[in-house]
Amino acid sequence: MTIKRLGEYLQTLYNEEKKSLLSHYPGLTLHRLKNDIKLHAFLNGVDSEELFDFPYLPSRTNPLTIFFEKLKEGVPLEYITGYAYFYRSLFKVSPDVLIPRSETEILVELATQEIAKNYKKKKCKVIDVGTGSGIIALTLMMEDVAELDVVATDISEKALTLAKENFFNLRYAISAKHNISFHQSDRLVNVEGNFDLILSNPPYIKSRADHDSVHHQVLSYEPAMALFLDDGVYDLWFEDFFRSIFKKLNDDGMSLIEGHENHLEGLAHIATKVGFAKVEVIKDYTGRNRFLRMRKQP
Ligand SMILES: C[S@@+](CC[C@H](N)C(=O)[O-])C[C@H]1O[C@@H](n2cnc3c(N)ncnc32)[C@H](O)[C@@H]1O
Repeated sequence: MTIKRLGEYLQTLYNEEKKSLLSHYPGLTLHRLKNDIKLHAFLNGVDSEELFDFPYLPSRTNPLTIFFEKLKEGVPLEYITGYAYFYRSLFKVSPDVLIPRSETEILVELATQEIAKNYKKKKCKVIDVGTGSGIIALTLMMEDVAELDVVATDISEKALTLAKENFFNLRYAISAKHNISFHQSDRLVNVEGNFDLILSNPPYIKSRADHDSVHHQVLSYEPAMALFLDDGVYDLWFEDFFRSIFKKLNDDGMSLIEGHENHLEGLAHIATKVGFAKVEVIKDYTGRNRFLRMRKQP
């Protein structure tokens, strides 16, 4: 067996398998791959700037061999390393939770702006519905714009366990003046109290109508519960959700919901029907409809 340097092995693998790699990982660059290998190596106890100059022996016990095997299978890089970057932090992820998406950073930005504008002098009560790995709730706390009292909920117990683990891992980056509690709940059912900010990146893909537009890697590896709603219940699911948001939102509060580009106009109508006085559809940086901002007061 020829032993190559890791850099050489990786370069050859990338060149020879490029077509198959790009079909699993659209836009994957060698640079991104190197970064994830460095992260994977670091997490497995290999921390070296010269990593790619070392001889690479593809033995079963080598953590990098496991990385390459999973890479060839098409497992998302974040599930291979067990970590994903979001905003300014690294979050633990697993196949029990959605891999954080960059669009959701805009939701955090919009929420941060609202907090900075209206809650400098008073505590802001926030709920993150469907928290998954906890990225929205925990990032807002780390941004430290004003004092926050946060509730993070999810219907999935496994997601909540991971969100709590991320809170533990990031605890030194979060000021002690903020509070957070975690609850298992279907949307806002049995959630106590009222809120100034109701945030959610809920499952918003129609399982039949949108199925063909979902990348095969997402379909194979990410949790269906985090992504899909049945077409037949879609509007009613959001109507019930928006009614409960209306009830639980303080009069001067705001709700921000991430949604599907094809369905946000429809959801805006539902929000108006439910009674919200101001409903706006907000685009992401690619110009696609991505968020719904709802207020009880115009
Ligand atoms: C699109 S993922 C978002 C996860 C995370 N907030 C993020 O932005 O990456 C949707 C999350 O909602 C949760 N979920 C699905 N149905 C739910 C329901 N009826 N009530 C509360 N959470 C739900 C899923 O378990 C999943 O964690």
